[in-house]
Amino acid sequence: MAAKLISGKEIAKTVYEHLKSRIKIIKKICGKTPGLAVILVGNNPASQVYVRMKTKMCEKLGILSEHIELAGSASHQEVIDNVKKLNNNNDIDGILVQLPLPSQCGENIILNTISPDKDVDGFHPENMGNLLIGKPKFIPCTPLGIWVMLKQSGYSPEGKHVVIVGRSNIVGKPMFSILCQKTKYANATVTLCHSRTKNLPEITKTADILIAAIGRPHFITKEMVKPGTVVVDVGINRVDDSSSPRGYKLVGDVDFDEVSKAAEAITPVPGGVGPMTIAMLMNNTILSCETKHGITAPSILD
Ligand code: GUN
Repeated sequence: MAAKLISGKEIAKTVYEHLKSRIKIIKKICGKTPGLAVILVGNNPASQVYVRMKTKMCEKLGILSEHIELAGSASHQEVIDNVKKLNNNNDIDGILVQLPLPSQCGENIILNTISPDKDVDGFHPENMGNLLIGKPKFIPCTPLGIWVMLKQSGYSPEGKHVVIVGRSNIVGKPMFSILCQKTKYANATVTLCHSRTKNLPEITKTADILIAAIGRPHFITKEMVKPGTVVVDVGINRVDDSSSPRGYKLVGDVDFDEVSKAAEAITPVPGGVGPMTIAMLMNNTILSCETKHGITAPSILD
């Protein structure tokens, strides 16, 4: 039987209704508009697309957005100086430095310069540490989006075996930190696999929920998935496609056509995790503004 489709695009729409009401409450209480600044260094085509989608969504929701574009040759210090300026800008509640950065820019130092109070990506070590000990302030957007998707589609990870494939700081590690906590919609047994994991198919076949975040097109095949698994595909890979006017198409880390024959439910690419990542960035920016002004709003995970 074909798997149920978990549409991030549809779930994001309900999230946006919730976010719009929170923006209205902020305006009513303190007359402020949440503000997000995005720094893009260089002209990586995928990063340009993501940044455009993020700023467009800010405009749509009525979030103030500042878009800083620096040349690919920008120095490490130039990026640091821009981050420091934004740290001191009272109109800005969230700062995001789009990754990857060119090699002359020290990613860790730059991310650590972002004020933890404006770190809407949740990548600052202080925020990562707080997430690991179960006291999060900002949760990285992609794993937070996956968590919300699982909750909203009725596939709570509680008591389940979740297998994550990919150990990045952006997805794999924070996803692990979220799902192992002793909290509602978490309480999972979590296995974090990666490129050096031995006997990977044997492990993925034990998953109730399988999260693929390894960045390799069609890496998860049907032989790696037991029937009835809920499959979340984080990958957005460009592969050559001469039949497409742009010359490429986007595919996930999962062989969708084959795996969807065995899975209980599956997220598509595009239209799955991607829209949820953007929705969670908006959520974190609003949360930052609420926190600054002492406003407590119900979370999307309540
Ligand atoms: N590059 C790919 N995903 C992300 C993300 O979630 N945040 C940032 N800043 N860069 C990224």
